[in-house]
Parts: sequence; structure tokens; C-alpha cells
Amino acid sequence: MTMQDKKTWSGRFTEPVAELVKRYTASVEFDKRLAPFDIHASLAHAQMLEACGIITTQDLTDIRRGMTQIEHEILNDKFAWSLDLEDVHLNIEKRLTTLVGDAGKRLHTGRSRNDQVATDVRLYLRHAIDELHELIRSLQSAVIDLAIQHTHTIMPGYTHLQVAQPVSFAHHLMAYFEMLKRDAERIIDCRKRVNRLPLGAAALAGTSYPIKREMVAELLGFDGVCENSLDAVSDRDFAIEFTACAALTMTHLSRLSEELILWMNPRFDFIDIADRFCTGSSIMPQKKNPDVPELVRGKTGRVNGNLVTLLTLMKGQPLAYNKDNQEDKEPLFDTVDTLTQTLRIYADMVGGITVKPAAMREAALQGYATATDLADYLVKKGLPFRDAHEAVALAVRFAEQRNCDLSDLKLEELQQFSSLIADDIYSVLTLEGSLASRNHIGGTAPQQVETAIAQARKYLAGPN
Ligand code: ARG
Repeated sequence: MTMQDKKTWSGRFTEPVAELVKRYTASVEFDKRLAPFDIHASLAHAQMLEACGIITTQDLTDIRRGMTQIEHEILNDKFAWSLDLEDVHLNIEKRLTTLVGDAGKRLHTGRSRNDQVATDVRLYLRHAIDELHELIRSLQSAVIDLAIQHTHTIMPGYTHLQVAQPVSFAHHLMAYFEMLKRDAERIIDCRKRVNRLPLGAAALAGTSYPIKREMVAELLGFDGVCENSLDAVSDRDFAIEFTACAALTMTHLSRLSEELILWMNPRFDFIDIADRFCTGSSIMPQKKNPDVPELVRGKTGRVNGNLVTLLTLMKGQPLAYNKDNQEDKEPLFDTVDTLTQTLRIYADMVGGITVKPAAMREAALQGYATATDLADYLVKKGLPFRDAHEAVALAVRFAEQRNCDLSDLKLEELQQFSSLIADDIYSVLTLEGSLASRNHIGGTAPQQVETAIAQARKYLAGPN
């Protein structure tokens, strides 16, 4: 083997790695994005080694100098990434050694790439979580800004995608606020389990050097250390959990996307989405397609796929580290990228929605949306609910035959179905009356929704 073929770990090997294998096993193409976190973690590790008397103060000074230069090179695209050096860790270590000599070779004392990579991924993910949390909150803010204008805008609420009962558009939007609130809570809760330090686990069993893991944890802003060295280098449950959180957020946005697509369809015509989020057709000049919501719906599939990838990656692995874990990065990075871009675009898109209240109202008037209100009216006058349900079903059939709404029927006509009906019924049958009557926490009455929005604003003004 010539010196050129020599790998960091090649001492015990008698022939060089085959070219294909080199490419197959290398991860530098994608894990180089961990570089800032790798450097940050290495500097903390080196500081601890120095404090514990494992390396000299001169070594630490040299390592810091070298790393500053490397950071600069990476930032300015001057760093020569090498596939031969496999991954981000060995690329940086090798360059450090070239720049500062023996101090660079001492950096890896008391550590392994196994605890190193686990640390880098956790630092990366913690950073991503903090950014994503902010983005979720920005989207929530955009949802509120739209909702506050529409507490009196009435649309049909649906079950089975059939007109069910009238709700306000604000109430409908605020349902998504609640979903996003849980998404934000979930991601922050997940952060607790991400934010633990693997370094010190070394390859798997710990290290014989007198290290201080708590010091490194503190320097890197971890809440504590991973308590078992085998677990520290082996499990990627934190990445799986994060991806599950992301899949849920994407699922919520996918559902909203599906609604935006329906609402934008001319048969509904409830909303318009700003042109900048749509595209035309190359053949059909009349088309305006809701590409962004459709892509969100589609990209939810890839995030769900990433979750299954990571779960499958983990399920057959014996303790402790296995190279399988190198495969955690692409699905994780892809999840972060996809969710980040989706949240960014979504906040802007929600801000660009034009609402068409007249069409919403028209649709609510067409589907006997206040039938339940008539039944409730009869119950309040003493009729058992099942009997009221039956009477109203007959009234709806009657109105259907006449092609009119319940509120268009004359009092005598309505009274055929129950003698309990009096002329106070007409205020009950209006859309406004229906909304106003659902006046309890979580109901669609404008007053309740306004309170919900005010509370939502307060929540967003707070820290979490
Ligand atoms: N590139 C590897 C990964 O991403 C780093 C850890 C490799 N450790 C080892 N002993 N081969 O998982």
C-alpha cells in the first residue's frame, strides 16, 4: 500500500479499499453539513482535555487556531472535501493535522467517531428544532391574522365532506392554530431528549482517560449527558421522534392544503390563493393551479417515508454503533429541509389568501345546515331528541321537494311536522342564529372565537 492510499484507520489493512467500496461507504457528500457542529463539539472536547491535563495548553491553542482557519475555509468554499477521507469528521481532523501538526492528532484522544457523530447530529437537530419552532409560531401568527377578520364570515362546516352545520371561517382556521400549537409543544418536548451529550461514550464502553463529560455538556449547552455509553452511541430514537413530530406537522399542513385546493376549485369558489403560489398550464390557458398546496400534500409523503426509513434503519441493529446509522442523515436532513421550506412558504401563502364570504354563505344556505338547530329548538320545547330528529328529517325532505331552504317554508308548512313550532323559529333557522347559539368554550359563536383568538395572541406573545 502506498502512502497515498493510506486511510486514518488503515494500519491493520494489507490492501487499499476498492474504489467502489470507498464511494459506497463515504458520507462526506451529505454529512459535510454537520461541519459547524463538528467543529463546535471538537473545540469543547479539546477544552475539556486541556482542563483535565490530557493535552497541553499549547495543544489547545493550536487546535483553536487550526479550527478557526478551517471554519473560514468552509465558510468561503475553500475547503477541499475529500471522498478518500470518508466523512466530515475525518476531513476536518486531517486538515487540522495538516495545519497544526501533532495537536491535531491529539484531538481524538478519549473520543471516537461513534460518540462524535452522535453529538454532531444532536447539535444539528437542536439548532433545527429551534428554527422550526419559530417557523411554526410565525405560521400560527399568520393564521390568527386571517382568522380575526372572519369571525362573522359564515361557511358550511362539513362532515363526510357533506354540509353539516354552519361555522365561521375564523373558527375553521383556528382549528389549525390548535393543531400547530400541539406541533410546537411536541417539537419542544422532543428537544429535551435530543439535548443530551453522547461524547465521553467513545467507541462504546467509555474511555480510560480522566475526562469530565459534564464540562463538555455545559460548554455545548446540553441539558445533561447520555447516561449509558452503549446507548449514547447506538440509539437514534431522538431523530426518529423528531421525524414523527415533523410528519405530524406535515400531515396537518397536508390537510389544510387539501382544503385550500377544494376551496379554490370554482365549484366551491370560497377563496383565492395569490398568483405567486400558483402556476398556469402550458396547454390550457384558463388554468390556475394550486401547485404549492398540492406539493405540500405530496411532500408529506416523503416525510412520512423518512419516518419509516429511520424506524426500519434502527429495528434490527444490535448494540452498539453500526455503520447502518450513517444512513440516518439523509432522511433526517431531508425532513428538516422539507418542513422548513414548507412552513416558510405556508405563512406567506396564508397571508395571501383572498376570502369570498358571499360564496361561503351561499354554500351554507344550500345544504340545510341549520337542520340540527331546528331539532334542538324542538328538544328545548320538550320533544325527545330522537323524535325531533325524525320531524326535522321530514321537514328537510319537504323543503328539498320544493327546492328551498327550511327558513323559506311558511310557519303553517313547518307546523305540519311539529305543533311545537312557533314564529320564533325563524331566528333559529338563520345562519347567524345558529352560530350565535353555540356559545361555549370551543364553540363557533363569534364571541367565543374572538376570545379564542385573543388567547392565541397572548400565547404567541409568551415564550413558548
Ligand atoms: N460517518 C459515520 C456515521 O455517519 C461516522 C461514524 C463512523 N464510525 C465508525 N466506526 N465507522 O455514522
